[in-house]
Amino acid sequence: MSQVFDVLVIGAGPGGYIAAIRAAQLGFQVACAESSSYDDPKGEPRLGGTCLNVGCIPSKALLSSSEEYEKITHAAEHGIQVGSVSVDIKKMLQRKDEIVTKMTGGIQFLFRKNKITTLKGHASFLGKTADGFQIKIAGKTNETVMAKQVIIATGSKARHLPGIKVDNLLVCDNEGALKFDSLPKRLGVIGAGVIGLELGSVWRRVGAKVTVLEALPQFLGAVDQGVAKEAQKIFTKQGLDIQMGVKIESVKTDKKGVQVHYLDSTGKAQTLECDRLIVSVGRVPNTDGLGLAAIGLKPDERGFIPIDEHTCATAVAGVYAIGDVVRGPMLAHKAEDEGVLVAELMAGQKPHIDYNCIPWVIYTDPEIAWVGKTEEQLKSAGRSYKVGQFPFAANGRALGMARGDGFIKILADEKTDEILAVHIVGANASDLIAEAVVAMEFKAAAEDLARICHPHPSLSEVMREAALATDKRALNM
Ligand code: FAD
Ligand code: NAI
Repeated sequence: MSQVFDVLVIGAGPGGYIAAIRAAQLGFQVACAESSSYDDPKGEPRLGGTCLNVGCIPSKALLSSSEEYEKITHAAEHGIQVGSVSVDIKKMLQRKDEIVTKMTGGIQFLFRKNKITTLKGHASFLGKTADGFQIKIAGKTNETVMAKQVIIATGSKARHLPGIKVDNLLVCDNEGALKFDSLPKRLGVIGAGVIGLELGSVWRRVGAKVTVLEALPQFLGAVDQGVAKEAQKIFTKQGLDIQMGVKIESVKTDKKGVQVHYLDSTGKAQTLECDRLIVSVGRVPNTDGLGLAAIGLKPDERGFIPIDEHTCATAVAGVYAIGDVVRGPMLAHKAEDEGVLVAELMAGQKPHIDYNCIPWVIYTDPEIAWVGKTEEQLKSAGRSYKVGQFPFAANGRALGMARGDGFIKILADEKTDEILAVHIVGANASDLIAEAVVAMEFKAAAEDLARICHPHPSLSEVMREAALATDKRALNM
């Protein structure tokens, strides 16, 4: 007789593991299946998904290390003289690996604490019986389990380009790019999106000459263009060579490295010679071998599992799908919130997610963060809005930190003053944006932010000044 669980979660990324914990907190008997071992020394499946193993956490660890290095090289600005500075790439990577191991181990602990069964192996639907869904777990040992309800949280994987072989040694997606064993003197990046800019920044800071090749003519097209233009200016000044409007023709590798043949924005044939290449051109949902057909489900034409907009329920009663494998931004916190939502729905609660209030952060330096619509989106929706913008250069704390670059921009409804969006390019944007998210979740007006006392001196005063600026009454400018 197979084991029967109330809830089986497929995938232990941020969507899946959080859904499993919340479901267990609500009294369900829960199992979570995970197939990927990533780089586990024993080849055992590791919890945490893309985010903990080959995404958010390792990339931010490397970003922090490279930021420390860059800070030291700029110490003279503060009157601090340092001798020659060098970076030990192996040590930097070892530190990153230790953080990943600690975090994934932390989820094992949380699973034990919440009495969640970990099923080690690839899960696929076999069918449905009166007792629930029949699911095969193919791992070191094969087993079949039953579940009354299932949450699909199988995430996403890197999109590769036709004809460009990713070996994760010379030509890398996010997995290989997070484990370079030495500094590539010349690094090529295809795609000036979030991964390209974050990982490009890591390797530029520690000494690589980085060239980013982007197909679209517009830099960071999904970002508010005021912010995108400011960011492009700063990144270029830092030394990132960003080439827009290119067409990649072919990629070749040999003993000398990688050659990328492409047409530049004028149509002229060019070759980029580099030691390593990162291909970061987006991600695709993961439904490989999931056996969806066995329960009558089918991905849409882009590979995503279709769901109800508000409940994440699929067309099959009792089966939900969350995170990167469904529509919406591919972000860990979005996946987590959907995990909580589904678990609470299963328990008869009435949770809700306001997708307009999901923040985005790009962890470059300066960071870029936003919540709500861009000016371009508001314009095309015909919404009347007012703008309040305030520069970090006019903030004492920012100057003390030698971080006067960038600004905060608040977009508020012309008539009601409701905050419609907040866009930040500047130091600590990832933390500053949280205040904007709270404000928008509570449907605050710009006047509310403007009237709230903010600590002095702090970067958060720029938020208040931007709110005041929507009413043309910034105090320090
Ligand atoms: P995933 O994290 O992809 O997890 C899905 C898991 O399911 C995987 O472990 C997979 O092995 C497993 N699985 C798949 N199929 C099966 C199966 N059939 N049986 C068993 N297991 C299966 N987002 C942010 O919000 N902030 C960031 O800073 C950030 N940085 C990133 C940096 C990089 C380099 C990358 C690549 C991504 C980053 N992301 C970031 C995106 C974030 O990682 C994803 O949005 C998030 O991990 C999605 O969570 P998920 O649970 O939906 O899926
Ligand atoms: P992306 O969608 O952010 O950027 C991909 C870029 O590649 C785009 O600018 C696109 O125009 C370009 N591109 C596509 N095809 C191309 C081609 N043939 N030649 C040249 N350029 C091409 O995707 P990315 O960077 O791979 O990241 C995937 C996702 O992972 C992100 O969208 C995000 O959801 C998530 N992520 C989130 C992070 C964060 O929250 N800080 C960090 C890293 C990833």
